[in-house]
This record gives sequence, structure tokens and C-alpha cells, in this order.
Amino acid sequence: MARIVAGIGSSHVPAIGAAIDNGKTEEPYWKRVFAGFEKSQEWMRETKPDVAIIVYNDHASAFSVDLIPTFALGCAAEFPPADEGWGPRPVPVVQGYPELASHIAQSVILDEFDLTICNKMEVDHGMTVPMNLLFGKVDKNSHWPCPVIPLAVNVVMYPPPTGHRCFMLGRAIRKAVESYPEDLKVVIFGTGGLSHQISGPRAGLINSKWDKAFLDNLSKDPQKLVRIPHVDYMREAGAEGIEMVMWLIMRGALDDKVDEVYRFYTVPASNTAVGHIILANRPRTARRHPGAHKTAKRAATKHNRAAARAKATIVRGR
Ligand SMILES: [Fe+2]
Repeated sequence: MARIVAGIGSSHVPAIGAAIDNGKTEEPYWKRVFAGFEKSQEWMRETKPDVAIIVYNDHASAFSVDLIPTFALGCAAEFPPADEGWGPRPVPVVQGYPELASHIAQSVILDEFDLTICNKMEVDHGMTVPMNLLFGKVDKNSHWPCPVIPLAVNVVMYPPPTGHRCFMLGRAIRKAVESYPEDLKVVIFGTGGLSHQISGPRAGLINSKWDKAFLDNLSKDPQKLVRIPHVDYMREAGAEGIEMVMWLIMRGALDDKVDEVYRFYTVPASNTAVGHIILANRPRTARRHPGAHKTAKRAATKHNRAAARAKATIVRGR
């Protein structure tokens, strides 16, 4: 059976991609940003996922104002990097996982989430920047370490989906993954944010207090986040802060209780707050039988007492 082992939240700031592509990662401004992802790359190398589901938003690259799907799932065999105005990023073509993607589409749509199925799609910085942050720089002629299923969410044109809808879609994705018969280790990314606004009188807005509270609740109490209305994101986190609803798809795909493996937050990168978190599901046996360790401890204590009694009997019998 396939299983989701962890969720990763990550900003997808386009300037981070430009810094990688133009060899600026060692410059002091960027170094502190990339340093925050070194442990994450180590964790990713150790985790070795078989496939990643990456929730992101398209920035008028694959879609335009002519066509705006609320949720679009990439079911293709590959996803080329999009030309975002200065040529495609020099990163490998992203390999898809059509079998699992089609299974997720079927399961989720039959669970009444109306996904758009994309059998051909280019992907932009919204997806490839978090991939670089977690997988490191990968030569254009090489391969990303695992296949990816892209899930594009409309957070560009009103109305985006609600946080609650996103969280419940995450739940449906988890159900879909767990009903896939192949034994696969899956990770899911939620990308975008954190607080930022790129235009208008409030351009440059960053709200670290809001961002940090969001990360705290994402880790420990996600139900506090699912009912936040759009207007609160806009007011507190800026117009583009609405991207944060995508992190709730990732969180919904995890168990209620998770272990926070790692967190990183820095301001600014470009004109954006950069947030990152890794949340791991607890081992399956412990989750299925939450009292199992207590039972085992009781059994061990009983066994030790019996062994002590037996030893005492042997000593007395000498
Ligand atoms: Fe974005």
C-alpha cells in the first residue's frame, strides 16, 4: 500500500530560482536563505520518497485568464519547465507518475472533489523552486530524484478555494494514496507564501507574527486554520498571502498528530517572507495501535517480574 510519510511546506519565491540559476547562492543575501534548507535536503536524501505530490499555483504559465481551474492534477508522464518570460529554467523535465495520478483523480473525483485532469502541462517556478530547495540544484540534463504529481490550485483570481475545502481535499488525497496497492513512500508539498504583497499601496507587506502563528498551528492545531476566511489572509498576510491555503492541502493529507521535524523562517527573500516546515506522520504501528507501546511496556514489566521470581526460586533452590 502507498502511504504519505511526510508533508513539506515551502515558499516558492521566483527570485530564489533566479539566484540558483545565476550562481548567486553564495552571496550573503542569499546564503542565509539557502542555509535554512541544508538540513531539509539532508532529510530528503535520507527519506528517499518514491514520489512527491506538489501542491502549487501556476503563475499564468500553463494557464491564463482564459482558463482557470480551481484544482488541476497533472496526470502526464512528464512536465517540462515553462518559459516564464526569460526562457525555461535550466532544470530537468519533471517526470510524472501517471498511474498513481490517475488513481488519485479517480478516487478524489468519486469523493466529489471536481479536479481538472491535465494530460499535458508545463510547470513554473511555483513547483520547481521548492523542488530545488528540497532536492538541491539538479543539472538540466540529469534527473530529479523522484517522480512528481503536480496539483495546481487557483490562488490567482478570485475566488480561490477556501482553506477548509483545501484541507478536506488533502484528506481525500490521503485516502486515495492509501488505497493504491503498490508499496510507495509518498511525500506531499504545500507551497507558496508566506506573507507578501507584490503590488498596490501595501506592496512589500510582511507580517512575521501572523506567519509564525500559522506555522505553529499548522504543526499542532490545524483546525484553527481551516476556517480562516480569505479576507483575513488578505488583510494580515497581503494579497499574495492567500497562497497559504495551499499548505492546508498538505496538512489535510497528514495525520491529526504529526512530528515537526524541522522549521525555518527568514525575512525577506525578494519582497517575501520565506517559510518552511517539515511535518512527519508517526510510524504506522504506533498510529494504528496508540496504546500498543503501553501494552508492550506492561507485558515487559510482567515478564521481568516473572523472570525475577524465577531467578529467586533458582537461587533459593541451590
Ligand atoms: Fe506564487
